[in-house]
Amino acid sequence: MKIGVLGSGDVAKSLAAGFLKHGHDVTVGSRTPAKLADWAAANAGAAIGTFNTAAANGQLIVLAVKGAVAEDVLRLAGAGNLKGKTVIDATNPIADAPPVNGVLPFFTDFKESLMEQLQREFADAHFVKAFNSVGNTLMVNPQFKDGKPTMFICGNNEKAKAEVRGILDQFGWETADMGKAEAARAIEPLCILWCIPGFTSNQWTHAFKLLTH
Ligand SMILES: NC(=O)c1ccc[n+]([C@@H]2O[C@H](COP(=O)([O-])OP(=O)(O)OC[C@H]3O[C@@H](n4cnc5c(N)ncnc54)[C@H](OP(=O)(O)O)[C@@H]3O)[C@@H](O)[C@H]2O)c1
Repeated sequence: MKIGVLGSGDVAKSLAAGFLKHGHDVTVGSRTPAKLADWAAANAGAAIGTFNTAAANGQLIVLAVKGAVAEDVLRLAGAGNLKGKTVIDATNPIADAPPVNGVLPFFTDFKESLMEQLQREFADAHFVKAFNSVGNTLMVNPQFKDGKPTMFICGNNEKAKAEVRGILDQFGWETADMGKAEAARAIEPLCILWCIPGFTSNQWTHAFKLLTH
């Protein structure tokens, strides 16, 4: 599959490397593609370009940019390039302020998540929240002694979620589908929970698991 990854940070690079590892065709986008040259040289087969180029090349889009600029980046990517496509939304609405006792501040509230805002602005794209509640080093085929961890996802389009479930299967995750876009009000704050042991005890190597009968 052709994947357009929007972002040049750790999440974009980790996920892009995962897609390459699993045989996908990847274009990674940035405002300044040159900053990805060393990464592309070390990751055979990766193409780099602008946000617009990455979105145009991708049949499926990965959004992996700072939450506060997610809407700006999608505008640069071009609404037309997102139309009808699945957009994996890995972003978190983290505010520009330090954590308090390990608890990150968000710029959203429980009435509307960042993903709902993006879905409203880019109504023709099919957003699926995923990969936001785990550190980037654990996103692709993480190994835990207790088995596969759980990725909580949500989104309004069933076909898009099925596509993301297939990718999560490849990337070594169990998928827990929490329903429509509103569920992102609960899934985005999992990032806050995930980060607390990191900030308070320098523990960054855990993931969530949903136990069911
Ligand atoms: N770090 C993690 O382990 C982790 C785990 C789960 C979820 N997340 C979430 O994933 C997202 C990406 O995280 P990250 O740590 O990889 O990177 P990041 O530092 O949060 O974001 C870097 C990206 O944001 C873009 N950006 C920053 N300011 C911009 C602006 N004014 N206009 C347009 N683009 C701008 C950069 O674009 P350029 O390429 O043009 O510079 C770059 O691609 C975040 O929302 C984060 O909360 C992070």
